[in-house]
Amino acid sequence: MLKRPRRNRSSAAIRGLVRETQLTANHLIQPLFLVNGQGIKEEITSLPNNYRMSLDEALKEVEACLALGISNFILFPAIPEEHKDKTGTFSYHPDNFYLKIALEIKARFPEACLISDVALDPYSIDGHDGIVRGGKIVNDETLDVLGKMAVAQAEAGFDLIGPSDMMDGRVQKIRESLDGAGFTDTGIMSYTAKYASAFYGPFRDALDSAPKASDDIPKDKKTYQMDPANKREALIEAELDTAEGADFLMVKPALHYLDVIALLKDNFELPIAAYHVSGECAMLMAACRNGWLEYEKAMPEALLSIHRAGADAIITYFAKDFATLSS
Ligand code: PBG
Repeated sequence: MLKRPRRNRSSAAIRGLVRETQLTANHLIQPLFLVNGQGIKEEITSLPNNYRMSLDEALKEVEACLALGISNFILFPAIPEEHKDKTGTFSYHPDNFYLKIALEIKARFPEACLISDVALDPYSIDGHDGIVRGGKIVNDETLDVLGKMAVAQAEAGFDLIGPSDMMDGRVQKIRESLDGAGFTDTGIMSYTAKYASAFYGPFRDALDSAPKASDDIPKDKKTYQMDPANKREALIEAELDTAEGADFLMVKPALHYLDVIALLKDNFELPIAAYHVSGECAMLMAACRNGWLEYEKAMPEALLSIHRAGADAIITYFAKDFATLSS
């Protein structure tokens, strides 16, 4: 035998020399679920170890993460029913606690990078990412709301705007709105290939943002989020986002879509982000809590796989735990 691949695995030192991928806390983005109020830290039943937090608790969490080397955070609001309407106007209202919390976090921790979520669903009585009319999600009118939302978020100090709505033309609309308001340095992390996935359940529990079921309203997001069966279509979305001025191209979910991550990595120069979504994290956690998998080993392997597939940045509910384990 002339070739023996096992030679390069024969000691920890040699394995270190030939290791192709290293994941650090630098690559990770910690999601935070935010509520209005004080002293609130409620665990999300379907996503153990993750909480809906008020400002004071969120500040403690950001401080703890920064100390562990996590500098990137993506923020999501749980909006009370009385602030929801058909067109998501509370998203850019000056009283929106989401914007105020971002301002406070940036004031206390300017070194933290804050990423926003742009979509109507947390603010919509219909639970959809766009405006619903006559049983349809109306694209172009929704863009106006998204533009306003993005500018309000930039004013609140968000470093990266995260359109997760999948409307056509949204990246260009947001880029023009930001530039028009003087926010030329605020970036866009676009949810480029976001699939109509069954793995968003715990997230929708956390925010009470599931699409509502009624005769006039589509019960799912299949007319705007992508079909899980499609891969080549992700190239169309990536071309558009690149042309429209995105700074990151995101694939979501992550673990079940590693082929899509690799495809975009191979075909585009922009950095690739991947969203390791709530359901993907919840299933791993459930298996670990049952004693069927070992958390300390299975969790880092899952994140490493996403990085190896080509994701530069990974949004994951395990960010803090990963950093804790590797510190
Ligand atoms: C909102 C949004 C969703 C997620 C991120 N932003 C839910 C959805 O599209 O229904 C899901 C994230 C997760 O499951 O962790 N548009």
